[in-house]
Amino acid sequence: MFYHVYPRSFASSRGAAVGDLAGIQSRLGYLQDLGVGAIWLSPFYPSPMKDFGYDVADYCGVDPVFGTLDDADRLIAAVHERGMRIIIDWVPGHTSDEHPWFVDARSSRTSKHRDWYVWRDGSGDGPPNNWRAAFKGVPAWTRDPASGQYFLHSFLPGQPDLNWENPDVREAMHGVLRFWLDRGVDGFRADVVHNIGKDPLLLDLDSEQAGVPRFLFNDEAHTHEYLREIRSLLDSYDGDRMMVGEVVLFSTEQMAAYYGRGDELNLVFNFKSLYAPWRARAWAECIRESEAALSPQYAWPAWVLSNHDLPRHRTRYGGEAQARAAALMLLTLRGTPFVYMGEELGLPEADVPDEARVDPGGRDGCRVCIPWDASLGAGWSEEPWLPLAPEAGLRNVEAQAQDPASMLNLYRRLIRIRANSSALREGSIEVLRHCGKLLVYRRCMQDDSLIVAVNFSAAEVLWEDAPALAVEVASDARGEGEAFGGSLRPYQALLMSPRLA
Ligand code: NOJ
Repeated sequence: MFYHVYPRSFASSRGAAVGDLAGIQSRLGYLQDLGVGAIWLSPFYPSPMKDFGYDVADYCGVDPVFGTLDDADRLIAAVHERGMRIIIDWVPGHTSDEHPWFVDARSSRTSKHRDWYVWRDGSGDGPPNNWRAAFKGVPAWTRDPASGQYFLHSFLPGQPDLNWENPDVREAMHGVLRFWLDRGVDGFRADVVHNIGKDPLLLDLDSEQAGVPRFLFNDEAHTHEYLREIRSLLDSYDGDRMMVGEVVLFSTEQMAAYYGRGDELNLVFNFKSLYAPWRARAWAECIRESEAALSPQYAWPAWVLSNHDLPRHRTRYGGEAQARAAALMLLTLRGTPFVYMGEELGLPEADVPDEARVDPGGRDGCRVCIPWDASLGAGWSEEPWLPLAPEAGLRNVEAQAQDPASMLNLYRRLIRIRANSSALREGSIEVLRHCGKLLVYRRCMQDDSLIVAVNFSAAEVLWEDAPALAVEVASDARGEGEAFGGSLRPYQALLMSPRLA
């Protein structure tokens, strides 16, 4: 199980306004108690922070706000000492416009790094084609006055896209991977990695797609070649190094192709499920499609409910009861679960006032600071970079650690049970039933089988013809250790074992 840390908001070693690497290190005991197997860190590299670190100005450094390279080395070692693993974000598709490569590239049409980025002449008075960038629907091209040419940026103008067709770019980005692998990281989360290969003809999007950010349609054959090269590099290191890819394509078949034949990405986030509504049918479909599209020989699913880009699922799904049921589901699916920091506290999306918002994509509400205790700053300065999470007085780590019925303790129990159950870790999954309200699936490994039933509705739901079952874990902690009575309470999820007659 992976735990996703957004370094600005996880913990500060100095009680400051912004989190840092030493702060993460100081909280490793918390992650170990939670049962975390591996940590994924969002970017901590030197950056002008136009996209809060996803605009990288130096792939081989640490932004002073987060600490130093020595802090990174100490953190990697400390994670390993505790028997956990650590992967870091790698942003292959674009740099910051302040990266020395781009500064050189834009200095003249003949500069050494010019072709490291995607430059084109305009078409008529405007950009080379109709592609749109993410955030605010602006064109994906910005004209550079010095040369009069346009450069491509799938995200902000401050994030020019790298030209992966250029072998020097590939070599340089491989160098970045080696730099961190040599320092001991266990792998990478590859940012929008399906977007590195570009349509060589840069064709316009059809008119009905034209307003949508272009990267959401990018799916080029040569990207798979680049991924195979990357996989060989990772596999040349000892100790199971890995890469999980952000492939923002909503068809499960398209996403599944990025595992290759076991020679591309080790894991790919299932984004269809990330965007799925809280409905039994939608989740049954996600599970079935994942089972159908991911070859058992080459591909292993990766499930995620929340991250730093989307409103938190507790709020999307409608409340605490749904979030508890979702936790039970996430931690009993077949595949690797990714937990986004704070979801184990049941944090809702924060209502950040307009004047406090700083993110160009409006994603501030899921990035607020983790409340560690009930003190005024909850482990932070009195004015953290974003406001504290809502209900920090109640929903903080210290309070929840002491309450056996808390969300935190539900996560802890489920993670422990999963770690000790081969059926949950490695067993097959089969959807037994789904109707408008109820989803039932079985996890099975040889003689060991477990049943999960989730009531997605606000009403009690009957499971007619249910076999004899004993409740092991209930998302609302009610009825545990008892025989299953044939119905589930509103938004209740149950993990159950067969009861011998
Ligand atoms: C995906 C990241 O998750 C997001 O935070 C970022 O803005 C874009 N990629 C651009 O790097």
